[in-house]
Amino acid sequence: MSVTRDRLACAAAPTTAAPRLGGIDHIEFWVGNARASAAFFASCYGFEIVAYAGPETGMADRVSYVLTQGDVRFVVTAGIVPSSPIVAHVAAHGDGVHDVAFLVENAAAAYRAATARGATGVAAPAVESDASGRIVRATVATYGETHHTFVERDDYLGLFAPGYEAPPVTQPVGPPVGLSRIDHVVANVELGNLGHWVEFYARVFGFDQMVHFDDDTISTEYSALMSTVVWDGSKVVLPINEPAAGRRKSQIEEYLDWYGGPGVQHIALRTEDIVSTVRALRDRGVRFLRVPPEYYDDAKVRMAGIDLPWEALADLGILADRDHEGHLLQVFTETMGDRPTLFFEIIQREGARGFGAGNFKALFEAIEREQERRGNL
Ligand code: FE2
Repeated sequence: MSVTRDRLACAAAPTTAAPRLGGIDHIEFWVGNARASAAFFASCYGFEIVAYAGPETGMADRVSYVLTQGDVRFVVTAGIVPSSPIVAHVAAHGDGVHDVAFLVENAAAAYRAATARGATGVAAPAVESDASGRIVRATVATYGETHHTFVERDDYLGLFAPGYEAPPVTQPVGPPVGLSRIDHVVANVELGNLGHWVEFYARVFGFDQMVHFDDDTISTEYSALMSTVVWDGSKVVLPINEPAAGRRKSQIEEYLDWYGGPGVQHIALRTEDIVSTVRALRDRGVRFLRVPPEYYDDAKVRMAGIDLPWEALADLGILADRDHEGHLLQVFTETMGDRPTLFFEIIQREGARGFGAGNFKALFEAIEREQERRGNL
């Protein structure tokens, strides 16, 4: 593992300043059935459904639900006509992340800056307005068929965006689970492309490299991967993985095969109390990856000197790691949909800014046991 905070060198230094991001505005999933996905996030993950768009609100070809919890905002969207690009996307990829949208002060300026610095434009800046004000959105392409939309909403007081109304049902289902914010969003890209995408985020968005994990750090008996974390220096943290040569199929290759190319592998959601959050999620039906009991023998040695509720952690399959700044607790869900692609991480940070490198081996062995059961290892 090597740590660097240097700004990445660019082949030709862009003359336009990078877009200034105010964090992740929302993550939009394109799914087969928005009503079912919204109910899944509400029932299993404790989200509140706050807005709806569909034929009743003037959206002829799609349905969207907006869900929030703490500072996390998800949008689930499904196409409802065969010619919909969303239907084609779901046929190709299964349910997955279509857009990691960034909050900005000026969407037109962010779009101009990103495209001047080499991003491919997908949608030029467009103003939308209704009685609650106006928003401006513009979109650029990133890995695979994934997008980054710039959202400017300073002048908007509505539920989410023009075209959205209060949902038919707003009652939260069950007790809160305590998710507070998006911690990081991880991409899987093809073998040999990690460097390209790290350079892309440096060039287009001015991101720095936070940390790099090589395939010696992240390897098991069977498979390996490499990972570089890029970030905006503040709230937007985007690790990028590529497969590395191993004895058998890497979990990243399995993802790429089943997603049909690069895309979002997992979304890490922050909690301030992981034991109560994971207990609540488990009670609501969320299934987590299990680690063998022996994991905790080793973890107790690594975490010596830190007072942790080991019995609860072992009961819930929560992993622990430390770095020079503190410690973290984390756990990973099974995949969200039917294909072995997107999953979630629940993470509690107590000072640590790492990603659980001390857990990689135990974690990946747990993932490989699931791969084996699917016949994909
Ligand atoms: Fe993660």
